[in-house]
Amino acid sequence: MLTGRRLKEEKWLPPSNEIISFRNVDKVYKSGHTTNYALDSINFSIKTGKTLSVVGESGSGKTTFGLASLGLIEPTRGKIYFQGIDITSLDRIQKRNFRSKTHMIFQDPYSSLNPYNNIFTTVSAPIESFQKGMSKEERRNKAAEMLDKVGLSPGADFLDIYPKSLSGGQRQRVAIARSLINKPEFVVADEPTSMLDVSITSTVINLMKSLKDELNFTMLYISHEIATSRYIGDDMAVMNLGRIVEYGSPEEITKSPKHPYTDLLIRSYPKPGQKLVPGETRHGDYNVYNGGIKGCTFAYACPFKIPECENTKPELREISQGHWVACFHPIN
Ligand SMILES: Nc1ncnc2c1ncn2[C@@H]1O[C@H](COP(=O)(O)OP(=O)(O)OP(=O)(O)O)[C@@H](O)[C@H]1O
Ligand SMILES: [Mg+2]
Repeated sequence: MLTGRRLKEEKWLPPSNEIISFRNVDKVYKSGHTTNYALDSINFSIKTGKTLSVVGESGSGKTTFGLASLGLIEPTRGKIYFQGIDITSLDRIQKRNFRSKTHMIFQDPYSSLNPYNNIFTTVSAPIESFQKGMSKEERRNKAAEMLDKVGLSPGADFLDIYPKSLSGGQRQRVAIARSLINKPEFVVADEPTSMLDVSITSTVINLMKSLKDELNFTMLYISHEIATSRYIGDDMAVMNLGRIVEYGSPEEITKSPKHPYTDLLIRSYPKPGQKLVPGETRHGDYNVYNGGIKGCTFAYACPFKIPECENTKPELREISQGHWVACFHPIN
């Protein structure tokens, strides 16, 4: 748990199985006359100890969702809770405590590792920041042990080399080692394999899956690839233009999608490594309200559209045990 006071004015607390909760969260970007809801009234929780896969085409808000859940961007509206504490208004000590329990693995292992730092400095940075007082020898041992765990072994042989002598896959293993060395409780992995060669994607995914089981953290796994998302996720959320439109078990969603957008997403699933852009969704003919979309974000292209879809925002509702969909006429 985050230590420090709980905000007194907040009566709402999440049930104990939720690590992160979004309540009415918007993230709005304005440029000129356009208003872009990167997150549009997100009400959603991530279960403790599970992997949530978030899928959606480019620009649907996946990265924004991940960054917001780590407090790395401020929502325009709404609140985000980590273990019951509002992360949008943490004091300095709480913020540090929160940072020490969370970590992000970025898409590009070429730009996410500092080329001037050796692997020891890179991997041990989180313990350097958050576990003061550990001797250099202890830190070297810990870093070597973590490198072993991510399949760079013997880990000790990697400590004094620099990123330039590593392959993309090895760099991503270093990034994973760094993200886990401080035993975080919550990790966001944003398309961690999309810059890697297809042939090593599955090894990295398997590695993350087994590390998650061994080290027992909660993971938000972001991807546009349905197959890996299904494989790694305990739960799956589908995003469309800043909204979560479907949520449930990855098997059920991929076998029997209920939202027409999810159905399109799955059917237009591209070859591995290709970006998923099933339609020019941003150029639809929307009924816009306050800069946001008034009805369903998929109404303009939906084959099952009824007038309600243009004018009323469909909320997520549970249509069968654990399967949620934001649609007035889900697919049977
Ligand atoms: N800093 C920013 N300034 C302005 N607009 C932004 C910013 N960050 C994101 N956006 C916009 O918000 C929307 C959601 O972006 P986001 O990066 O979260 O999508 P994504 O699902 O991660 O896409 P991708 O699959 O391409 O990574 C996009 O329309 C994007 O252009
Ligand atoms: Mg992204």
